[in-house]
Amino acid sequence: MMCPRLSLFHIIAIISISIVKAQNILDFGADDRAEQDRLQGTIEELCKNRPLSEYFRLSTESNCRDAVRCVGNDFAGGHTLAAVRCPTGLLFDLDGQTCDWATKVDNCDRLTKPRLARPNFKTDEPVCPEGLLQCGDGACIDKLLFCDGNEGDCEDGSDEVACTIDEDPNAAPKCDRSQCVLPDCFCSADGTQVPGDLEVGQVPQMVTLTFNGAVNSDNIPIFQEIFKEDFINPNGCSIKGTFFVSHKYTNYSAVQDLHRRGHEIGAFSITRKDDPQYWTKGTYDDWLAEMAGARLIIERFSNITDGSVIGMRAPYLRVGGNQQFLMMNDQFFIYDSSIAAPLSRVPIWPYTLLYRMPHRCHGNAHNCPSRSHPIWELPINELDRRDDPNYDERLSGCTLVSSCSNIYDKQQFRTLLEHNFNRHYGSNRAPLTLSFDAAWLEINKGFTRVLSDWIREKLTSQSDVYFVTELQVIQWMQNPVDINSLRDYAEWKDKCDVKGQAFCSLPNPCPLTTRELPGETLRLHTCMECPNNYPWLLDPTGDGFSFKK
Ligand SMILES: *[C@@H]1O[C@H](CO)[C@@H](O)[C@H](O)[C@H]1NC(C)=O
Ligand SMILES: *[C@@H]1O[C@H](CO)[C@@H](O)[C@H](O)[C@H]1NC(C)=O
Repeated sequence: MMCPRLSLFHIIAIISISIVKAQNILDFGADDRAEQDRLQGTIEELCKNRPLSEYFRLSTESNCRDAVRCVGNDFAGGHTLAAVRCPTGLLFDLDGQTCDWATKVDNCDRLTKPRLARPNFKTDEPVCPEGLLQCGDGACIDKLLFCDGNEGDCEDGSDEVACTIDEDPNAAPKCDRSQCVLPDCFCSADGTQVPGDLEVGQVPQMVTLTFNGAVNSDNIPIFQEIFKEDFINPNGCSIKGTFFVSHKYTNYSAVQDLHRRGHEIGAFSITRKDDPQYWTKGTYDDWLAEMAGARLIIERFSNITDGSVIGMRAPYLRVGGNQQFLMMNDQFFIYDSSIAAPLSRVPIWPYTLLYRMPHRCHGNAHNCPSRSHPIWELPINELDRRDDPNYDERLSGCTLVSSCSNIYDKQQFRTLLEHNFNRHYGSNRAPLTLSFDAAWLEINKGFTRVLSDWIREKLTSQSDVYFVTELQVIQWMQNPVDINSLRDYAEWKDKCDVKGQAFCSLPNPCPLTTRELPGETLRLHTCMECPNNYPWLLDPTGDGFSFKK
């Protein structure tokens, strides 16, 4: 077990000593060396058997904003600690492994995620017959049973413990560019490489505006302000966005109209349940009911018949590991856009998960898919939220624009947009994903205007910036062309500039109930016929089929 309590002083001492050591500036005297050895011993004790990606606390008595993780020291051997500090107002959540609102963090009294029995994968001599690996209690079981999502293959439960992308014995192989070729496979060693053999200057800067949650009268006016009729991409087509729609309170007639205008609709679950663990620990069947169910509801009540709902995003970006991606493949989902890529100097391009993901599993409660899946990942590159990127101290990045908690006023929001755009445009032009919970734009008055002014300015001042859907990003990557050829690029001409009226002017305001939500009457607005019941997990079409005797 770990050393129970270290004071804040020790944290600072450990960190500064490791820095000094790395730089070889000081020659320590004998006493210092003994002290240093003692501290190094403490660090090694802390880092023993701990995944390098896992953050933990050194003290439960400090402010709960600080956390550290172990970093292998390539030169001297052993480990050093890397520290993060959450911005004011946020605390470090051990379960989610990310900074979160204080009200959401209930583990400040713990130093570390619970430790479980671990399997023995690394032994000097093989201890099991070929094809088998050893559980923590010494039993040998089939290698394929490790990290398959079913607990209890090892009696001590150690079969589902060491399952990060670096540990899973059945993990996807590292990127092999001789095998992984477009259009169906794309990877690069560090994830930053541009697809095709294009010069960066010839690559369009794609921006994806994505919205999570219900679509209804609270936010329809916001979407109208962002997707104005006269906002036209350089190829002459109206700008497009992607809507990851959750079911409850959604107006499906409005979704139908978004789709008619060429925006992309994706799945964001039926329940959008307010319990992050539900998603992280979700089974195959949970993901199936939530996401395939959400798509069924969208298709039925928005009458989307062209099979274009092919992407999904996990609520709270709580990725469901291999279970989520196995379900996606079985159900013909093409891409996920939930995995956060940590803030770094050069952003990450989308990749396929046939090979190992090219960055740390960051946030997402560390439940990234470890095995090989034929699914595209459009990662969310974290945004740099600093007011003054040239001078301010490093802050952790944020995934959703609406989770950048330090953005209070319009000028800060504008700086955030401009600075992060430049970070992408000035490096490898990886697509810039701007993700919003629409409620954030409702609450922060005037922010929608800032966003739409910024879009207008980009469209008028640059001819190599395109606001496109997630699917259009994948299409471009599968068949990359330079900016000069984009004017006639057929894939981006679909529903180029749709005018005309919505499909129906008076949607049915179906008031409905379901046995799954006792006591609630909900309205489902749709141009289609009202179903018998409010659609929900066990009865996504609302026919009541599964309840019939
Ligand atoms: C639902 O959306 C449609 C289409 O945008 C709109 O005409 C209708 O007023 C909306 N209904 C409600 C209750 O918001
Ligand atoms: C739904 O859409 C299809 C194809 O666009 C169309 O043929 C059909 O009439 C629509 N159904 C209803 C009930 O509006």
